[in-house]
Amino acid sequence: MAPSMSLRARGPCTVEVLVLAWALCVVLVTAAAQKPSITVDEVGTLFINSTEKVVVNGVDVMAAFAYLLEAATSTPSSVPQLIISTAVRGPDSVYAADLDGDGDLDVLSASSDDKIAWYRNNGNGTFSAQIVISTAADGVTSMYAADLDGDGDVDVLSASWNKIAWYRNNGDGTFYYRQIVISTADDGARSVYAADLDGDGDLDVLSASYGDDKIAWYRNNGDGTFSTQIIISTAADGAFSVYAADLDGDGDLDVLSASDNDDKIAWYRNNGDGTFSAQIIISTAADYAISVYAADLDGDGDNDVLSASVNDDKIAWYRNNGNGTFSDQIIISTAADGARSVYAADLDGDGDLDVLSASLNDDKIAWYRNNGDGSFSAQIVVSTTADGARSVYAADLDGDGDLDVLSASGGDNKIAWYRNDGQWDWKTRFNLP
Ligand SMILES: *[C@@H]1O[C@H](CO)[C@@H](O)[C@H](O)[C@H]1NC(C)=O
Ligand SMILES: *[C@@H]1O[C@H](CO)[C@@H](O)[C@H](O)[C@H]1NC(C)=O
Ligand SMILES: *[C@@H]1O[C@H](CO)[C@@H](O)[C@H](O)[C@H]1NC(C)=O
Repeated sequence: MAPSMSLRARGPCTVEVLVLAWALCVVLVTAAAQKPSITVDEVGTLFINSTEKVVVNGVDVMAAFAYLLEAATSTPSSVPQLIISTAVRGPDSVYAADLDGDGDLDVLSASSDDKIAWYRNNGNGTFSAQIVISTAADGVTSMYAADLDGDGDVDVLSASWNKIAWYRNNGDGTFYYRQIVISTADDGARSVYAADLDGDGDLDVLSASYGDDKIAWYRNNGDGTFSTQIIISTAADGAFSVYAADLDGDGDLDVLSASDNDDKIAWYRNNGDGTFSAQIIISTAADYAISVYAADLDGDGDNDVLSASVNDDKIAWYRNNGNGTFSDQIIISTAADGARSVYAADLDGDGDLDVLSASLNDDKIAWYRNNGDGSFSAQIVVSTTADGARSVYAADLDGDGDLDVLSASGGDNKIAWYRNDGQWDWKTRFNLP
């Protein structure tokens, strides 16, 4: 069409019309080159080229890609803090367990006003007012829940001033009226945990105490009565955190410790019967190490180790070679100012374990998305309204199948949770089956 138009042009307009025709030709030729096409080059790369939609089985894939790209590069914003209780002073520890046996997860707290308490889940993520279990845990620092007497319900453990004690659940979330003392041989008890250390089928108790640098355990006789303290090590200077996991793959549970004065993450090899090796150091690069946890972060079938350290604001991990030897410290983030607590849970529902942190100085509850191989995203903030955040945990509190987040914060005396509505869940965000 364009050339015939130029032929009909006359007089002083001829030059302009010819230029216009040339421009039109260029446009048409370019448009022809950009015609949608599917081609294969010599090495077998398939090119699907179109400046318009590319629809596969009814799905506009270019729009989907743009959405994915946007979603992948945008950071989910922090979510509302839902307060469970402020009737605590200086809470140090938060945990979830089904205490009344109704099938949902209730929330537990330990606070420096000597209080072990719980909050009954109504099943939908709303909670009862605080129910006090005990106020006999003088300056309690740590709490854990596990079935200690083998009667099928979840009992509660505490570490306080110099005491490891437990509280017997009657099965319905009411507790035997008295604190049952396991040991008073712990100078500055900071951490308590339960695990079957001697392989006899019941849960023994582990403790870390600060003043005497001690990692110790108490053998369960099966009914919730315990042996006297059995010392595993006194080489954890400023022992702050204890955990148990099979680190050398021999089927029994080894013990892990974090100690702050020597910046140390260490473990103790279980000989299978609850006797342990001397301390084996994993790292001394965790400045004021305060929290330790174990989980398979790279999906290779063994338990790796996680740490939080206060002075270098660090959340880090140590890759297990499978035999209890570990890589050097691998830093996940140094954006947790005053890192106080670390935990691992699959928050985005993609099948690998992500990492959660609570940090004291920036009041932050945050997580780090695992790419599946133990490499992690930058810090994703859940909330910055947990003043003096000390403890973090994940559990499905509203029964919708994904993991919500719990926090205890000592600055604002708060036990709170953060609902996972799929904002962290790739499948939900991307509408995947
Ligand atoms: C399709 O796009 C590729 C990459 O931009 C380009 O190299 C190729 O020449 C295009 N093919 C066609 C037929 O336009
Ligand atoms: C949650 O459950 C409780 C007890 O059944 C009920 O009173 C309350 O209204 C429910 N709240 C929501 C938000 O569903
Ligand atoms: C543990 O495994 C690593 C990696 O396979 C190996 O280099 C190391 O020698 C092993 N150490 C022991 C004590 O078995």
